[in-house]
Amino acid sequence: MRERTTSALITGASSGIGAALALRLAAPGAVLHLSGRDGARLAQVAAACRSRGAEVHQAVLDVRDAAAMAAWIQGAGRLDLVVANAGISAGTADGVAESAAQTRAIFATNLDGVLNTALPAWEVMRGQAPGSDGVRGRIAVIASIAAFLAVPGAPCYCASKAAVDAWAVGSAPAAARDGVRLTSVCPGYIRTPMTDRNRFPMPGLMDADRAAALILRGVAAGRVRLVFPWWLGALARGTALLPAPLVARLAATQPGKEAAVSG
Ligand SMILES: NC(=O)c1ccc[n+]([C@@H]2O[C@H](COP(=O)([O-])OP(=O)(O)OC[C@H]3O[C@@H](n4cnc5c(N)ncnc54)[C@H](OP(=O)(O)O)[C@@H]3O)[C@@H](O)[C@H]2O)c1
Repeated sequence: MRERTTSALITGASSGIGAALALRLAAPGAVLHLSGRDGARLAQVAAACRSRGAEVHQAVLDVRDAAAMAAWIQGAGRLDLVVANAGISAGTADGVAESAAQTRAIFATNLDGVLNTALPAWEVMRGQAPGSDGVRGRIAVIASIAAFLAVPGAPCYCASKAAVDAWAVGSAPAAARDGVRLTSVCPGYIRTPMTDRNRFPMPGLMDADRAAALILRGVAAGRVRLVFPWWLGALARGTALLPAPLVARLAATQPGKEAAVSG
């Protein structure tokens, strides 16, 4: 992807996976459009990308602001790759349900925020000239292996990621007819500020840079759904076949995800 991508736009580039993607793509000739809410952290990532030779445009933006997101994406010029990465999580630690405000925030960020990114990107890309491979542009939405399982410890997160994954996978054929490749990325546990606060075991925990490499390779290969590590995805799929009360009993043996919103 590094060789072929000349212009990429990434949301949530101020931290974690988004920052790792930006740094991987940063090279002479690359044009990067990066956004996040924390201007200071975003500026640090942008500076690191510039030091690798990339041209970087940074924007402090909230993905929940549909009009601002559309204006940013429409004004970016040609886009070879767009990654709808920004997301948040919370949980039901100590058996306390996610609050109504948390529930709304998680869906607004993880679902509406992804659509606020992917829909204008699709519209822009369908009007672009195709590359030598016939592709007009590539869009990756960052879902999660959590999409495959309704975990009682993080119900809103799982539900928001399930929606994003189903939307992207179901929309991929229509996007392909427009010359746009749409990929649902479903990672397992990645070491970032989002998971730093988890108090439960995280099998297969992976560094963000490794995850970024896998994402860019899978997106370049045109994968519709990218799951890693594959065995954790298979485990989640298998567990989802069990009766829901049994899944809840198994989940109750683990410490919960903290109730505070992170990310
Ligand atoms: N870490 C994992 O194990 C894991 C696994 C599967 C999927 N994912 C997904 O990967 C994505 C990145 O997560 P991460 O682990 O890298 O977490 P992170 O380090 O907490 O980064 C989250 C990013 O999202 C941005 N963000 C959050 N709310 C936003 C909003 N309303 N508007 C704009 N930007 C917003 C944050 O920006 P600011 O910090 O500037 O506010 C930050 O850059 C998320 O969608 C997450 O659900 C993560």
